[in-house]
Amino acid sequence: MNVIQVENLTKDYGYNRGVFNISFFVKKGETYGFLGPNGAGKSTAIRHLIGFSKPDYGKTSINKFESFAHYNEILEYVGYIPGEISLPQGLTGYEFIEMMKKLRKVKDDTLINHLTERFELDPAGDTKRMSFGNKRKLAIVVAFMHDPDVLILDEPTSGLDPVMQEIFIDYIKEEKKRGKTILLSTHIFSEAEALCDRLSIIKNGHIVDEFPLSKLKYADDKVYKVSLENEAEASSLKDLISHSDYATCSKQEKESLYVHVNDKDINLLLKSLSNFNVTNFSHEKLTLEEYFMKYYIDDIEFKGVSHV
Ligand SMILES: Nc1ncnc2c1ncn2[C@@H]1O[C@H](COP(=O)(O)OP(=O)(O)O)[C@@H](O)[C@H]1O
Ligand SMILES: [Mg+2]
Repeated sequence: MNVIQVENLTKDYGYNRGVFNISFFVKKGETYGFLGPNGAGKSTAIRHLIGFSKPDYGKTSINKFESFAHYNEILEYVGYIPGEISLPQGLTGYEFIEMMKKLRKVKDDTLINHLTERFELDPAGDTKRMSFGNKRKLAIVVAFMHDPDVLILDEPTSGLDPVMQEIFIDYIKEEKKRGKTILLSTHIFSEAEALCDRLSIIKNGHIVDEFPLSKLKYADDKVYKVSLENEAEASSLKDLISHSDYATCSKQEKESLYVHVNDKDINLLLKSLSNFNVTNFSHEKLTLEEYFMKYYIDDIEFKGVSHV
């Protein structure tokens, strides 16, 4: 069953800004990642899904409730961490938690206390004067206080220190095990790799690819580490490969080269290697970052990736 459904969502802010004809769904119990740099359109899509904005075209729903028309119902069973946190003025953290508790009809404090402790939130003091990290922690506690079935997390760890990021990721892993449906927007590859079952890559308001994370293990584009007898031989192989049209070389480490090749061209690579003294040939796992970069560099065939 699809819990989250986005069909042809379009919001045009002009000057090629916004989101254009975006479609995706998230099944019950699935964690879906939205991967893209700043300005790609992640928050715009999420704000429509939550029901904050009306689409120019297309529709979005959660649990079959059309978002814009059912904003109140959606907030009842969704835990939402906004990308930009704005808190009401003149309240302490304690008062804000109390306010949200009433709004969400939360009866007891067990989960709130657990979350406050786990995320080391200090709810004392005016929310406006809180540090960026503490504001984020407050948003986390408030988003999860009613134990919602659907979590919508818009770059949830931005502003958290690395230890707290780990604590957050562990919490989401537990929520995943409990069967929650999760949409996570992020530009942090390790976060997406740790949590997501499926992902889409968003660029300039368009979804340019969608795939299960497991695809990276089995992708047709592969990276091999090829070691030769000495550095000079490696340099001459590098030269040969950089003039070929079937493979590219992203990095040389002394006598070793990192060679990118598609499965369909593997024989061409092997033939050219037969003229060299290869001492080792091993498959390197393609990381999500490397996969992502092919959409974000001008030369689409990995030629610009120099940091394997
Ligand atoms: N309310 C708005 N009015 C005009 N432009 C907007 C508005 N909201 C977002 N944008 C623009 O739309 C693009 C996508 O923004 P956003 O969805 O916030 O990206 P992301 O969350 O991926 O960083 C950006 O160019 C941004 O400046
Ligand atoms: Mg954003």
